[in-house]
Amino acid sequence: MDNQNNSIQIQDLEKTNRILRKKLERCENERRQLESDIATKEFLLKKVICELENSQTNLQQRSQELENTLDSLHQMQAQMIQSEKMSALGQMVAGIAHEINNPVSFIYGNLSHIREYTYDLLRLVQLYHHYFPNPPAEIQTERQIIDLEFLEQDAILVLDSMKIGTERIREIVLSLRNFSRLDESEVKAVDIHEGIDNTLMILQHRLKASDKSPEIQVIKDYGNLSPVECYAGQLNQVFMNILANALDALEEFNAKRTYQEIQANPSWITIQTAVVDSEWVRIAIADNGTGIPESIQTNIFNPFFTTKPVGKGTGMGMAISYQIITEKHGGKLEFISTPGKGTEFVIQIPLQQPISCSIVLSAEC
Ligand SMILES: Nc1ncnc2c1ncn2[C@@H]1O[C@H](COP(=O)(O)OP(=O)(O)OP(=O)(O)O)[C@@H](O)[C@H]1O
Ligand SMILES: [Mg+2]
Repeated sequence: MDNQNNSIQIQDLEKTNRILRKKLERCENERRQLESDIATKEFLLKKVICELENSQTNLQQRSQELENTLDSLHQMQAQMIQSEKMSALGQMVAGIAHEINNPVSFIYGNLSHIREYTYDLLRLVQLYHHYFPNPPAEIQTERQIIDLEFLEQDAILVLDSMKIGTERIREIVLSLRNFSRLDESEVKAVDIHEGIDNTLMILQHRLKASDKSPEIQVIKDYGNLSPVECYAGQLNQVFMNILANALDALEEFNAKRTYQEIQANPSWITIQTAVVDSEWVRIAIADNGTGIPESIQTNIFNPFFTTKPVGKGTGMGMAISYQIITEKHGGKLEFISTPGKGTEFVIQIPLQQPISCSIVLSAEC
């Protein structure tokens, strides 16, 4: 009986054992399945993370590209405004020069005739006087009224000084036409000094003495330069921008000083030119105006940066000048400034532009 019971128990145990093994096997399978699921999900997750990282990098690249495009659009807009401004100035200058040229040529052309006629008339009067030393009283009175002796001496002098004056106007007209150089968009070998002098001529009215301040001295120290290959009209714009800024700085400085203080420590602009190692020229323009505070020195060449009141400055002069010197001429534009003492801008450009070689080469081809 005991044996029978034992064998039944063993059978039960074996059955339970089988069931448990099966359960274990199933659990094992489920565990494997779960592990494989986790691996797949982990793989998928990594893939998603990787894709997200990639798209984030792409987004960063795109936003960088957009920023660059925005920057260049900003620059382009700035250049357009400035070149529009300068070309308007050039056109206006050329227009005025043209309009003045005709009447002045009239006067200048007729001055030699009027001088000859006056000379002839005076000779005739002298002849009359010689042969009729005692004219009637009416003529004698008239002679006294018009002060004939003085008139005889002065008439030719007046005409000569009118000739000098019209010659000066003709020179100014020529300078204005040279300054605008609207016809010259190509590289040309020019006398840099002529460009600087023409620019100074246009700014002449700002150098003159006024009731608030004495004349601003311009000290020129021109080196022996051979003609420089450049875009002459654009280089003149750079001279114009730098000189106009120097004058603004001097005016700003002088606005805080009395006439006597300015007289004791006069305002000046120096212009030095020199050849550097036979391939480059250096043009330095300095003033003893306000100077540029250190905190803003890094912004000077940025488009639209200005410290001037609204309506006075656009903040484009230096940005465009920098572009003309560095990009158009392959040169350098730098400055040194001490607040309260003054500023010096230094332009360096090659004597020859590579573009002229390519023009020659392509012509030869
Ligand atoms: N010689 C100088 N002395 C003192 N500050 C200067 C001088 N040159 C330039 N600056 C400073 O640099 C700034 C930028 O000059 P920039 O010529 O580009 O613009 P702007 O003169 O203000 O306006 P605009 O576009 O009409 O010339 C000026 O506002 C001024 O603060
Ligand atoms: Mg300026």
